[in-house]
Amino acid sequence: MKALSLNLEKQYLAQQMITVKKQAKYLQIAAAFRETIKQGFLMPDEPLPSSRTLAKQLNVNRHTVMAALAELVAQGWLETKLRSGYRVAAALPIQTSKSLSPIIIKKGNKSVINEINPATFQWRFRRQATVAVSLAKKASDYRYNFSGGYPDMNSFPFDEFKSCFNDFCQRPKIPSLSYGDSAGEPELISEISKYLRRVRSIKNKELLVCNGSQEGLYLISQLLLGVGDGVAVEERGYPPAWAAFKSTGANLVTIKQDKYGIIPEHLAVQLSHCNIKLIYLTPLHQYPTTVTLVVSRRMKIYQLAAQYGVGIIEDDYDHEFHYNSQPIAPMAADDPLGLVIYVSTFSKLMFGGARIGYVVANTELIAKLTAYKALINHKTNVMMQQTVAKWMQQGGFERHLRRMTRLYHKRRDFMINVLKGYQQQGLPISFTCPAGGMALWVNMGKSIVGLKETLLSKNVYLQTEVEFSLATDSEKEDYRFVRLGFAAMSETECVQGIKIIVESLYR
Ligand SMILES: Cc1ncc(COP(=O)(O)O)c(C=O)c1O
Repeated sequence: MKALSLNLEKQYLAQQMITVKKQAKYLQIAAAFRETIKQGFLMPDEPLPSSRTLAKQLNVNRHTVMAALAELVAQGWLETKLRSGYRVAAALPIQTSKSLSPIIIKKGNKSVINEINPATFQWRFRRQATVAVSLAKKASDYRYNFSGGYPDMNSFPFDEFKSCFNDFCQRPKIPSLSYGDSAGEPELISEISKYLRRVRSIKNKELLVCNGSQEGLYLISQLLLGVGDGVAVEERGYPPAWAAFKSTGANLVTIKQDKYGIIPEHLAVQLSHCNIKLIYLTPLHQYPTTVTLVVSRRMKIYQLAAQYGVGIIEDDYDHEFHYNSQPIAPMAADDPLGLVIYVSTFSKLMFGGARIGYVVANTELIAKLTAYKALINHKTNVMMQQTVAKWMQQGGFERHLRRMTRLYHKRRDFMINVLKGYQQQGLPISFTCPAGGMALWVNMGKSIVGLKETLLSKNVYLQTEVEFSLATDSEKEDYRFVRLGFAAMSETECVQGIKIIVESLYR
């Protein structure tokens, strides 16, 4: 009895801490009893102290205890017999489900024992994620982070952005706060559409805002791909997009690329026999090699796509950062057949955590994507989207872009000079100066297998060619390229980090 009293009081206190005034006292007592029984401090058929004793122990009114006991009887945890008080039920709810025996089911005209064991429930997964969620350190946890996709977040104008957010809080548009507008906040759709029309010559298309462009790629995959379909991808490419395609059971069909980008003649061969349904491209700054796809190849690819009735996903992830000239207009800007699905993101203009990306396509596809998106989430992030819309309206967005383009241009040239210094010392490293983007694709002059691991132990993060390829391990043995992000690297970090990379490979 002493053990019961202590345990019940312990459970009761714990319950009170969790529920602080949210639940009536009798329900808190009932919950404490339930835990005590579940933990085996009260056994089936064991009698309980009288309600008067319990009331004294718990320092509550006797009616409260009576109400708790009645609740437990109703739930099947206690039984009561006339004049003999309360007992723990002889067959407890948990025990009964644990001791169920398998049922007999019909298979054809035979009766067989169902193979499911009711005592050991197990999830049966119908799908496997095609990406592994890493528990290892993030790129940004390393002292020198050469990850190609990182903007300089320290340069983000948080004060300016804060005033747009304050504006949202001071004058909230109440009707916009509830459900609806699954395609995104109308203000943001309107601002991005205007911007795309002006800066990227994309018009007469609809726009869907999503939770980063990865969500867009996933939605497109779910709607347009199925088991056995092919997706044409560049030999070196963007694994998160590949993972979204593969999640539908589609196959990746690699297309050869050279120093001018993807080779249309090889695409033609693969289109003729690989059941390709979509072509995925990063034409402005090929990911990861940074090459800008020449106009003649773009036109050839467009014609092939039209001839085979295949859509093109154009992932234009860092359009703004183009340094020596205006960037070539996206393929989506000249798309008379409406077969280009344009995907882009704010992850490079702002930061990945903003989770704003978008898909631009013809009306039919955007309507279907929006409906599908509403299945996953029937509202978008109003606060973030309206704040960004305000920031765009006020011109802050484009001011930031101009500032960052100047900064990244300088950083690109700085990194190139650092690498040239090593070339002059006789190291066989080589690279082509990219027209834009946030990273260099550098041939280190010897196999880089194992380099990544060595560098991680020296607090340097970088991505190697191995990570962007679908080739077999033995084919990867002679890979020589690394992708060096420069956008987020200060000059000191750039010099020190590259020194560690070079020394790890050459000394
Ligand atoms: C090729 C490519 N596409 C898209 C993205 C952006 O993804 P998200 O908008 O989901 O952050 C990145 C970012 O690294 C990228 O490199």
